[in-house]
Amino acid sequence: MAQPKNNTALLKLNTGASIPSVGLGTWKSTGVDDGYKSVIKALEVGYRHIDTAAIYKNEDQVGKAINDSGVPRSEIFVTTKLWCTQQHNPKEGLEQSLKRLGLDYVDLYLMHWPVPLNPRSIKDGNYLTIPIKADGTRDVETTSWNFIKTWELMQELPATGLTRAIGVSNFSINNIKDLLASPGNRITPAANQVELHPLLPQQELIDFCKSKGIIVEAYSPLGSNNAPLLSEKTVIEVAKKNNVTPAEVVISWHVQRGYVVLPKSVNADRITSNLKTFSLSDEDFKAVSDISKIEGEKRVVVPDWAPFVPFI
Ligand code: A2P
Repeated sequence: MAQPKNNTALLKLNTGASIPSVGLGTWKSTGVDDGYKSVIKALEVGYRHIDTAAIYKNEDQVGKAINDSGVPRSEIFVTTKLWCTQQHNPKEGLEQSLKRLGLDYVDLYLMHWPVPLNPRSIKDGNYLTIPIKADGTRDVETTSWNFIKTWELMQELPATGLTRAIGVSNFSINNIKDLLASPGNRITPAANQVELHPLLPQQELIDFCKSKGIIVEAYSPLGSNNAPLLSEKTVIEVAKKNNVTPAEVVISWHVQRGYVVLPKSVNADRITSNLKTFSLSDEDFKAVSDISKIEGEKRVVVPDWAPFVPFI
C-alpha cells in the first residue's frame, strides 16, 4: 500500500534558485483570517512555498503569517503577482505588494495575465479591481499597451532586489513565443503559472515551457471550487486501490509530471494532507492521464478579456 509522505522536493528555476515542488495556493482564501490561518498551518506542517497575488486581496494576511510563523524568511519561497491594472508600472505594483506583505522581497513575481487593463479608468487609486467601461464590458487596453511592454519593464525588477525572479501566468505557447521574440527581451520568464489538472493536462504547453527552461506551475490543480476532480470515478478507483485519498492521487499525479503544484485549502486537515504525495504506478499514472481523453477537456478559469483571447 502506498504511504504518502510530506513532499520536500525542489525544482530549479532558470535563475539557479530552488523552488519547492508543492506550494500552498491562496486564491479565494479571502475569509476574515483564511489567509493568515492557512499559511500559519501550512508552514507548521512543512510547506515552504506560498503563492499569493495582489488581486487575491490577502497579501496582508499571508505576509503576517509568514512573519509570525517562526520559519526563517530565507527558507520560504514566496510568489505574488502583478495585477493587470498596473502593467504600466510593475515596480510600483511590486512595491505595494511588498508593503502589504510586510516583506523586503519576494522570490518570484509573475505577470498575472497577458492582459493590460486600462489604468486611466482607476479613479480612487484602487488598482486591485477590474475597470468596467460605460457599455458594461471590461476595460481591456487594446492599442496603447501590451504584455511585451509590461515584460520590458518587469525585466528591471530582479536588479532592484525586490524580487529574485520574474515570470508570467496564464500565458499560451503563442504568447510566450511572442514575448521571447520581442526585440526588448533579455530575460526568459522563470515560470509560467497556468490552470492544470487531469481535465486540462496541457502537455504541449508543458513540453514547450520545459524546452525553454520555464518552470510550469499548476493552479486550480484539483479543479478549483469544491475540487471536482476528486469525484472522478478513475481518481476514486486509483485512491481505493492505493489506500490513499483522491486528493493525494491528483496531487501526486501533478508532481510526477515534473512541475510545481499549488493546491489551495483553508482547512487545516486538507492543508496537511495536500503536502503528502506518493509514487503512482505507470498504470495508475496513465489512468489519471487518460481521464481527459475519455471525458474531454474542461477549462475552469475563463475570464472574459474580450477582445483579447488569452488561450490561443
Ligand atoms: P477548502 O479550501 O475548503 O479546503 P484547487 O486547489 O484546485 O483550487 O481546489 C480548491 C478547492 O478544493 C477548494 O474548494 C478547497 O476547499 C478544496 N480542497 C482543497 N484540498 C482538498 C482536499 N484535500 N480534499 C477535498 N477538497 C479539497
